[in-house]
Amino acid sequence: MGNSKTISVMDKLVSLTKRRGFIFQSSEIYGGINSCYDYGPLGIEIKKNIKDLWWKAMVYERDDIEGIDASILMHPRVWEASGHVEGFTDPLVDCKKCKARFRADQLDEAICPNTKKPITDECKSNFTDQRSFNLMFKTFMGPLEDAANQVFLRPETAQGIYVNFHNVRESARKKIPFGIAQIGKAFRNEVTPGNFIFRTREFEQMEMQYFVKPDEDEKWFEYWKDKRMNWYRRLGIREGKLRFNEHTDNELAHYAKTAFDIEYEFPFGWHEIEGIHNRTDFDLNRHMEYSGKDMRFFDDQANERYIPYIIETSIGCDRTLLTTLVDAYEEEEERVVLRLAPAVAPIKVAIFPLVKKDGMPEIAEKITNDLRGEYRIFYDDSGSIGRRYRRMDEAGTPFCITVDSETLSDGTVTIRYRDSMKQERIEQNNIKKFLHKEILSI
Ligand code: GAP
Repeated sequence: MGNSKTISVMDKLVSLTKRRGFIFQSSEIYGGINSCYDYGPLGIEIKKNIKDLWWKAMVYERDDIEGIDASILMHPRVWEASGHVEGFTDPLVDCKKCKARFRADQLDEAICPNTKKPITDECKSNFTDQRSFNLMFKTFMGPLEDAANQVFLRPETAQGIYVNFHNVRESARKKIPFGIAQIGKAFRNEVTPGNFIFRTREFEQMEMQYFVKPDEDEKWFEYWKDKRMNWYRRLGIREGKLRFNEHTDNELAHYAKTAFDIEYEFPFGWHEIEGIHNRTDFDLNRHMEYSGKDMRFFDDQANERYIPYIIETSIGCDRTLLTTLVDAYEEEEERVVLRLAPAVAPIKVAIFPLVKKDGMPEIAEKITNDLRGEYRIFYDDSGSIGRRYRRMDEAGTPFCITVDSETLSDGTVTIRYRDSMKQERIEQNNIKKFLHKEILSI
């Protein structure tokens, strides 16, 4: 956790996102439910934009990756094969005095949720013995709530891809190397969720699994490391705020040979937003063993059969959304501004008549109607023009168009840029061209 200044930046962001309709506490009228959030009208637009940008980069711009949408509930044996039943656990301890719960492997940086202060040696003296806690959410399939009917909410989307390896390969007629991409919800009963939407118990992942020849794994690992880091440019994230962090041997997940996180410097420190993993042949091997089905690939040119290695890129959609908001948030003397990249911004353009008379609203409404359907847009004719600009700055809207008296005489409108607050005049007929260029430029 950071100091009080950085915490207050997060507090301000949380309050802005609620006030402007980005993110709400789930079930708020009942007092909320810990670590669950709802996306409001502006939040859902950002989320959709992030998913679209990822899908575009991973699927539409390539011919070697196909998409799928697998079911959240899977055969329970999947999670035995994947190692999650046995190994997806966190060590935890409880404080016998104040009942707070902590990850036993993260005590150095632990903050007590009750005192809001770092834990002390006295706290530690009151801790229970360490025990393992499986992070998978469990439920039952059908009316009988017994062990035979227990199923899990998936803790990662990856397994839905592995079990469909042959289905996708055969139906899409793919040869190695190729990849499968998926966006979907995942669930983890985290011991210490927190930092707003950074760590929650229900979240969305965007994962891509790339199947390669075993002796080409390192080459493809480097390729995907590079590609994924470059993708953050499209989101407009400041480069100095991103870095790689390589997992040490004792940090590596049970399936990984090599793993690099892409980390972002949040107000509460450097933290992972994406993981790039060399999962070797672990997953397909295990599914072959547990299902009894042959998961090997037959290379007819080399006349050899092998289990492909998998290079995985795994990113949290909610965490990426938090990254874009934190990175974009700025307090200036006279305004709060979200400097979101145009492609990420929830509202692309706002249209204002300067005053509600002289035919200005009619022209502004016509411009609005012409743009509707192409972008999320916003028409506003209430309050001073300065206040209207400020409201859009706070929502991250990159462009505002104002219809004023000059529009009436020469057909031009004012384009006002959110970041520089510079204003220019452009022909009314050129608005679409201008927006296309600015919004789709990345
Ligand atoms: N299939 C590999 C996998 O799931 P991970 O490092 O456990 O790897 C990948 O998770 C990404 O999913 C993380 O980088 C993070 O962005 C996101 N993520 C994981 N747990 C999360 C949580 N509790 N809340 C929000 N996002 C989470």
